[in-house]
Amino acid sequence: MFHQYKTLIEDGDLVVVYLNPGSMLTTTVKAGDMLNNKYGNFRHDDMIGLKYGSMVKSRVGTGFVYLLHPTPALWTQVVPHRTQILYLPDISFISMYLDLKPGKVVLESGTGSGSFSHSLARTIAPTGHLYTFEYHELRAETARKEFIEHKLTDVVTIEHRDVLANGFGKVGIADAVFLDLPAPWDAVAAAKESLRRDTTGRVCSFSPCIEQVQRTALALDEHGFSDIRMYECLVKDYETRTLPMPDIEEAINGQKINFKPNWSERKKRKLESGSGTPTGEGGAGSEIMISKPVDQARGHTSYLTFAILAPEANN
Ligand SMILES: C[S@@+](CC[C@H](N)C(=O)[O-])C[C@H]1O[C@@H](n2cnc3c(N)ncnc32)[C@H](O)[C@@H]1O
Repeated sequence: MFHQYKTLIEDGDLVVVYLNPGSMLTTTVKAGDMLNNKYGNFRHDDMIGLKYGSMVKSRVGTGFVYLLHPTPALWTQVVPHRTQILYLPDISFISMYLDLKPGKVVLESGTGSGSFSHSLARTIAPTGHLYTFEYHELRAETARKEFIEHKLTDVVTIEHRDVLANGFGKVGIADAVFLDLPAPWDAVAAAKESLRRDTTGRVCSFSPCIEQVQRTALALDEHGFSDIRMYECLVKDYETRTLPMPDIEEAINGQKINFKPNWSERKKRKLESGSGTPTGEGGAGSEIMISKPVDQARGHTSYLTFAILAPEANN
């Protein structure tokens, strides 16, 4: 389902339930079941047959939720965290820089919570393949179950394996290797062995600490990789809101202007003015729409170290 879209919700489908801008969850639709949350009680029978994207109303009260088609981007926002995960800015940058597209063969370790695996699978489907390796047995099993439930097994193979101790067990097949490991420098030799030698091979290592980057870059250099570069993706969310425009006369006269009237104050002023346009503190101001970074914008997650392995000269 994550790389093939459909229109109608059927019994047994996974649905992303959108509650509000800050809250989503997943549910597998099953005839007879009920989804209960603070917005009400939602019968799965009411969901079956609806189009993805539809709103469904609670059987009690006035609550409603939206039913969205699962995508890798949504999954990253709702995935149960078994580990630290990759988020969309890194995911998109890495996918682009590794030159991923349908048909590519990618190796990934560790699988962790499978956040990146879902995006990798969608990007290289339907003709490519992702081999993902995880040495924590429970995490490997949990990810395996999710890949089956999400109908990704045609493009994803997961293996419970310690890649530092045992390598990837793949020779000369990969277009790209992605490492999210505590000691990625120890996986560089195995990454090289797994890459194709008839075309440019690409590696990316995701590490939170600059010391890890230094050791990985040295290892990549020693093993003959080139074009070694490091990037950091920092995302800045913006929100829009309407504020009262300060009145120049009031400002000149030194009157205090409230730039953050709450909703009830604004509604009161709107009614008082009778104009349909809420006004600023003390009178006749109009409004402006502003856009600013949200206070809790996510900062550094990790450094991204990229390198290429040039094709062998006789190819
Ligand atoms: C930070 S998580 C990966 C998260 C993943 N990129 C995601 O987006 O969900 C790192 C994972 O690497 C696994 N790992 C660590 N050393 C490993 C090794 N030698 N072989 C395979 N997996 C390993 C850990 O068990 C952990 O699950």
